[in-house]
Amino acid sequence: MSRRGRSVLHGRSPLSDAHHGKGVVVTGAGGGMGRAIALAFAHAGAHVVAGDVDEAGLADTRGLFGGAAGTLETMRVDVRDEAAMAALVDAAVARAGRLDVMVNNAAVLGAWVPIAEQERATLDLVIDVNLKGTVLGIKQALRHMIPARSGVIVNLASVQSFRVAYPGAAFYAASKAAVVSLTRSAALENGQFGIRAVAIAPGPIDTPMLRGTGGEWPPPIVAQVPLGRVGEVEEVAAAALWLASDAASYISGATLPVDGGWLAP
Ligand SMILES: NC(=O)c1ccc[n+]([C@@H]2O[C@H](COP(=O)([O-])OP(=O)(O)OC[C@H]3O[C@@H](n4cnc5c(N)ncnc54)[C@H](O)[C@@H]3O)[C@@H](O)[C@H]2O)c1
Repeated sequence: MSRRGRSVLHGRSPLSDAHHGKGVVVTGAGGGMGRAIALAFAHAGAHVVAGDVDEAGLADTRGLFGGAAGTLETMRVDVRDEAAMAALVDAAVARAGRLDVMVNNAAVLGAWVPIAEQERATLDLVIDVNLKGTVLGIKQALRHMIPARSGVIVNLASVQSFRVAYPGAAFYAASKAAVVSLTRSAALENGQFGIRAVAIAPGPIDTPMLRGTGGEWPPPIVAQVPLGRVGEVEEVAAAALWLASDAASYISGATLPVDGGWLAP
């Protein structure tokens, strides 16, 4: 792990005490960015409940948590299942007494083929997980956040919310554009309750999802990234910690690119 990654995961970040005692839920935390985000919050003192369909991945996430500062528990959850999502947020409230942060991170890419060759089942899967799963996460989080008159919702969008970077990922890109819109609606409707909703738009980040696209490594798209490299999961986790903290207390409805400058041109 890089120096950048270590500073986030081992609590030496300037935000290391910003989340002490908070109740935090992270979906898709059995690997990739979700795991890094869950670990970063737990190392910053939060009580984290991490959900995923991948139970082996969740076990690895638990194993990577050193136990210092906060707590980390895991739960098998499919974000398409509203009852399971309700149980996930309830677990955080049971542990911390409140739900401060909801990170809607779980997503799938779907089949990597042009629209003309896509199957209806792939459309359903991508929209059900990426869009409807995020809706369910927001809705279940609000069930606790509105009565508490506080909370932050952090959704994982993508550079593909703004710019279709690859042919073959049409449903994924459309679902991620929708996540940006959903974030704005959530901010608009819930600001009156002191609740913020924000999104992160990662560029190419070194995760199983990006590696699963196959081909060369690093991917040729890195040539379009001003910083000239793939990002690390800890760099996204650092943005999530900051956006969810009081340091970002006047930011709502916004989507922050964490993309090495890819969206700059
Ligand atoms: N990796 C990138 O380059 C990149 C770029 C832009 C945006 N993103 C977004 O960032 C987020 C994290 O991506 P990642 O690269 O870490 O992905 P990943 O595939 O490595 O991890 C996603 C996790 O979500 C879980 N998941 C999938 N379907 C689920 C479901 N129905 N219910 C619960 N969990 C489920 C998977 O098991 C996996 O652990 C996603 O929203 C993704 O769309 C990724």
